[in-house]
Order: sequence, then structure tokens, then C-alpha cells
Amino acid sequence: MAERPVEKGQTVRLRLDSLAVGGEAVGRHEGMAVFTLLGCPGDEAEVEITEVSRRFARGIVRSVIEPSPDRVDPPCPHFGDCGGCQLQHVSYEAQLRHKTAMVRDALQRIGGLTDVEVGETASMDEPWRYRNRAQYSAAVNESGELALGFARFHAHEIVALTECELQHPLSERIRTAIERLLPPTDQGGRERPLLLGVETFVSFSAGRALITLVCEGQPAFVRPLADALTEDVSEVAGVLFARRRGRAAVHRSPAELVMGEGHLLEEVGGHTYRVSADSFFQTSPVQAARAIELVREWADIGPGDTVVDLYSGVGTFLLPLAGRARRAFGVEAAESAVSDGKANARAWGLRNVTFYQRNVERVLPRWVERGRTADVVVLDPPRKGAGPIVTASVAKLQPRRIVLVSCDPATLARDLKHLAELGYPCARVQPIDMFPQTWHVEAAALCERQAEADGAA
Ligand SMILES: C[S@@+](CC[C@H](N)C(=O)[O-])C[C@H]1O[C@@H](n2cnc3c(N)ncnc32)[C@H](O)[C@@H]1O
Repeated sequence: MAERPVEKGQTVRLRLDSLAVGGEAVGRHEGMAVFTLLGCPGDEAEVEITEVSRRFARGIVRSVIEPSPDRVDPPCPHFGDCGGCQLQHVSYEAQLRHKTAMVRDALQRIGGLTDVEVGETASMDEPWRYRNRAQYSAAVNESGELALGFARFHAHEIVALTECELQHPLSERIRTAIERLLPPTDQGGRERPLLLGVETFVSFSAGRALITLVCEGQPAFVRPLADALTEDVSEVAGVLFARRRGRAAVHRSPAELVMGEGHLLEEVGGHTYRVSADSFFQTSPVQAARAIELVREWADIGPGDTVVDLYSGVGTFLLPLAGRARRAFGVEAAESAVSDGKANARAWGLRNVTFYQRNVERVLPRWVERGRTADVVVLDPPRKGAGPIVTASVAKLQPRRIVLVSCDPATLARDLKHLAELGYPCARVQPIDMFPQTWHVEAAALCERQAEADGAA
């Protein structure tokens, strides 16, 4: 076996030059790429090697010898310990630059797409306290006290938070209220904690919140805690409860209402959406408005058009398009999102909208078999992307335009590559910064049917 240029535990001096998916800065040691946690591109740093594989190594910055001009002081005291965000030490302007490069790189490397116009990443005016949803994990310390927080970098252990600069302040008030209100004796102890996680969803426009308590079984504290919480934090509109279903608290049963309401109204870009605790909604309402506007512009719907929105959620993209279209169809797997979508269509007075509660990959091939077509298809799949079955079916619907929205540049590139092979070359990609201070980036892509694309050229 060829000798590796570095070993685990060794410290090497590196010049870091780019940012990789995952938020690690990349440097090279004797030709081997070292993915470096807490590095800022432009740094010269002492890096401790933490992992070595055949083709690359991982490390962590131990000291910065010459800081990058883009390096800034992270405001959060937990930064570097808590794994919730990765880029607070990189100036916001540089974060945006690197996100654009990350999207461009994925399109070229994974999608082989070299001539796509990629816009500069659309920034957030206030890149802090922008999250409308928090998923805190719970831990019980040696004194039996509850702490809510996020997992440490590359570890399962929970970092107890004093603050989080990414969450809406209401989520943070709920977190501290639960830590204060839940008596240690009710928590089941370190070995058998009963409260496993807390999810919050905040409507920025209404200034109200939903809380979902994720528990082992159905502990007796759920109802009294819900009472105490609504008393303590007057903006709490509803408290729900869910049982753990997998090993982590994120795998849980559908939420059941304990008290108050199970949904909130949120206004985005002049539109009001009903969103239930279990329904997906874009993380930042401010950037969601941008994404809706972009999708609307790129979809370019005409009055006779049939529009199909796959992975439609509560109708975030579909409903603003439906007002201009002849018919509008949404396909979404989650029951709560479909029920919100239908309620939203009614509240908006839209009679031409149909939501199907189905898995996209199952229903779409059947639509194709039955000869259905669409003029415009919008799709916003989960992180794993749409995949070849869905992209093939989308092309067979023969739309004039396809607008693909994605939160993962790698799967976006793969889906766009398939679509290009199927006669839908991608013309433009616009990254949108939905997740400042983290490496994640949202992007929208416009694909046009080859004939139209040739006509436009
Ligand atoms: C990234 S979200 C987009 C939702 C919506 N477009 C929006 O902007 O609010 C992806 C959505 O796809 C749904 N979903 C996940 N897998 C699915 C599948 N196989 N078929 C249909 N919907 C699915 C999720 O429940 C979620 O609502």
C-alpha cells in the first residue's frame, strides 16, 4: 500500500484556499486534500489531522498563523463547539462568494454543466436570527437538569446552549422557558430521559409560535408543561406532542395537539400561508419571498397553462402560480402539508388547484402512462434530489419550462445533468442564501425544452 503523506494526530502547516461542501476549508499537504474544520479560505494555519483515508484527510485548525482577510470574530460563544453552524468565522460577504463557487463547482464537476449562467448568491439583509424552525435536542446533566441544544461537531453529544444567533428570539425564549419549567424529577434521569427534543415553529409575521415536545412514550409532564409554557410565553399559539420512532428525536410520530392551535399563519411576499407544525416551510420567510418571486418569473405562466408543482409542501410555489394558470396540480407526500395546501387554496379563493397526497416517484410515471402533459413543472425535492425516475417522468410531461429548486448543490447538479440529457438544458441557476453562517445553500434552476432553448439562442 502506498504511503500516506500525513498521519492522524500529526500537525501540518497549510494554506487553505477554498470551501468544500460541509463547510470545511480545503488545503493540500504533499498533494493530499485536507478538509479543515474551522478554517477560513485564505488562512495559513497549523492543522491537526483527525482522519486519514486513501484519497484525502480531515483536520481541525489548532492555530492561525496568518489569518485570511475574510476571517472575522464569531459572535456566538458556542461557535466551534456546537455543530449547528460552520461559517461564523468567515465574513458574510465571503460566505456568499464561496457559496456561489460551491454551486458552480458542483454544476461543473457533478453535472458536467460548464455553460450555465450562475448568478451571485442572493444575500440576506439580516443574516442572523433568521430561522423560523428550531430542532433542539435534550440532554440531562449530572445534577438532573435539562439542557436543550445542538449536537457537537461530528458527535452525538449535546452542547447546552446559552444562546443561538440563528434562531428567532421567540424560539430561544421557549428553549429557556422549558429548561426552567420542567422539574428535574420529571425528566426520567440521565439513563432514561423522557423529553428527547423540542421543535419550535415561529411565524415571523404573526409573532407566534408552535411547540412540539418529542418524548419517549407519553410522560405525565406533557400537559402541565404545556399549561406552564403558554402562561410563561404569551406568544405560544399551540403545544403538540410526538413520540420518538427511531433512534434520534428527529424520527418521530406525527404531532398530536395538546393545547391551542396546531398551525400558524405566515405572510410571505404579500401572501398568507397556513403552516402546521408538521408541514415543511422554507426556513427564512424573507428569502422564501425571494424564491417565490424568482420561481414566478422563471415559470412565466400564461392564462392557458397547466402547471404541476412536485414536492409542493403547503403550496408555497404552486399557489402564486395558480392565480395565472388554467389548472394547477400539487403533489406532496406529507398529510399535514397537503391539508394546509388545500386550506390555503380555499383561503386564496383559488378553484383551479388540486393537491394529491402521493409520493412523486410513484404517481408521476402513472401520469405519463396516461398521457398527461404539463406546460410548466416546478419541483423542489428534499435534499436527496428528484432522481432519475422523477426527472425522466418530468421530461415526458413535455413542459415548456422546468424550474428546479434545491437545497443541495450536488443533487441539483445530478438532476440537471439528467434533465439536460432528456432535452431540457439548464440555462440559469440562481443561488439564494437561505442559511447564513452555515455551508448550506438553496438554488433555483431554469431548464427550457431544447426547441425553445435553440430558438432563444
Ligand atoms: C424541500 S420541501 C419543499 C416544499 C415546498 N416546495 C415549499 O417550498 O415549501 C420538500 C417537500 O417534499 C415532500 N416530500 C418528500 N419526499 C417526497 C416524495 N417522495 N413525494 C412527495 N413529496 C415528498 C416533503 O414532505 C416536503 O414538503
